[in-house]
Amino acid sequence: MPFQGAFITSQNKPYPMRTYKHYIGGKWVASHKTFASYNPATGKALAYFQEGSAEDAEKAIQAAETAYPKWSKVPAPKRGEVLLKAAQIMRKEKERLAKLVVLEMGKVLAEARGDVQEAIDVTEYMAGEGRRLFGHTTKSELPDKFAMTIRSPIGVCGLITPWNFPLAIPAWKAMPALICGNTFVLKPASDTPMLSYELVSILERAGLPKGVANIVTGPGASVGAGIIKSQRVRCISFTGSRETGLWITKNAGIKKIGLELGGKNAIIIMDDADLNLALQGVLWGAFGTTGQRCTATSRVIVHSKVLPKFQKMLVSATAKLRIGSGLDPRTQVGPLINRAAVEKSSKYLEIGKSEGAKLLCGGQLKGPGFFFKPAVFTGVSKGMRIAQEEIFGPVVSLLEARSLVDAIAIANSVTYGLSAAVYTKDIANAFRAIEGIEAGLVYVNSSTTGSEVHLPFGGVKQSGSTREAGIEGINEFSETKTVYVDYSGKLQRAQIDE
Ligand code: UN1
Repeated sequence: MPFQGAFITSQNKPYPMRTYKHYIGGKWVASHKTFASYNPATGKALAYFQEGSAEDAEKAIQAAETAYPKWSKVPAPKRGEVLLKAAQIMRKEKERLAKLVVLEMGKVLAEARGDVQEAIDVTEYMAGEGRRLFGHTTKSELPDKFAMTIRSPIGVCGLITPWNFPLAIPAWKAMPALICGNTFVLKPASDTPMLSYELVSILERAGLPKGVANIVTGPGASVGAGIIKSQRVRCISFTGSRETGLWITKNAGIKKIGLELGGKNAIIIMDDADLNLALQGVLWGAFGTTGQRCTATSRVIVHSKVLPKFQKMLVSATAKLRIGSGLDPRTQVGPLINRAAVEKSSKYLEIGKSEGAKLLCGGQLKGPGFFFKPAVFTGVSKGMRIAQEEIFGPVVSLLEARSLVDAIAIANSVTYGLSAAVYTKDIANAFRAIEGIEAGLVYVNSSTTGSEVHLPFGGVKQSGSTREAGIEGINEFSETKTVYVDYSGKLQRAQIDE
């Protein structure tokens, strides 16, 4: 069965339900069981996928290994041409892809277009890298000796992706992997596998040889573990929970591992901040994508002098947010991804209340669909679970700080360190925050989300150990080979002091 190309008719209606198979070595491979992905706005099944096993993962690894020698020898600028063509196809089909993102993930259409655009951007950026892939040259400590580094591909990569950016994050990983000359097995999140099929379909329409990109769907415990544990997989790039990240570090053996894990991201609002601007930043950071970004704002640390005023502004603006289907252009907050996500956010509302925090608004809404009214807690102290644990839903906590030093200490009082923001008009405050906050990303006078593909992305502490995107994406998916060329014609011994 060839790729079906379009999953939405020109009338914007989904095609009749289809069952996807694994995509291995350019062939469709069935497993024994299937599972469905659901439209979070209706709770109805959208399509069926294979519930794969470790053996299925193994078959895909084999296919990627078979395709590797040839693909890795294609000149990088030629690989770049395939990526550029793929970006052009995505541009042409942006609206169709964006609607699929809404159907399968639930985010509002404008954000879904952003998801597709981010995939286009990273694809174009990495296509250009085909003509760079720079190494370094430097001086040797000995005469008549030349020293440089060159980049080599790694081999078969295992890409394990989350559901919150169903097209952008697979593209963030697939494109640098491909431009560096690797082949891959992609295991998309079970909530949103459809967009990964779209991505691979587009790459093959752009000329990617079969077997270079493979997809296996199914549970982390079988397919994911099969990929992670395989010694034939030379590189893992994972975005997801801290718990799974920890499991990977314990089970992957010796290979290159990229981890993008959770966050407990804070916005600091100083007493000199433009409160209207800060309000927009908090609404967008906390409730955009229904709070389901690893960079989402989860804590708002407000200077005591402006806290009462800001709290009022936030609650009244939150109450006005329009919740509904992402396809409705008036919607500002779409559904959560699934029932478990609704239960998790609801559970944290109970936890927060039992810890003594005050819930000002928010909570579960009646179905169908997995809707949740954005929630604001106040009276939260830094040690509470709602101030420490990642919720991944539209729940934000207000914490009080007496000074910038106090605010930075609160911001740093969590195990995570992905993204943070500070709102202030004082340049000294801004730089003190930039320096003092423990995070991989710091924003000044803008929210905690919205990183761009040509800059590094990733966190410190429990948020991850690596960076991706931009040049760091190239570092993630290539090996550095150090080369010495001695043209002195005699044995020159380094580190010998006579
Ligand atoms: C994520 O939530 O896993 O900076 C990634 C942002 C997006 C990427 C988020 N560009 O919010």
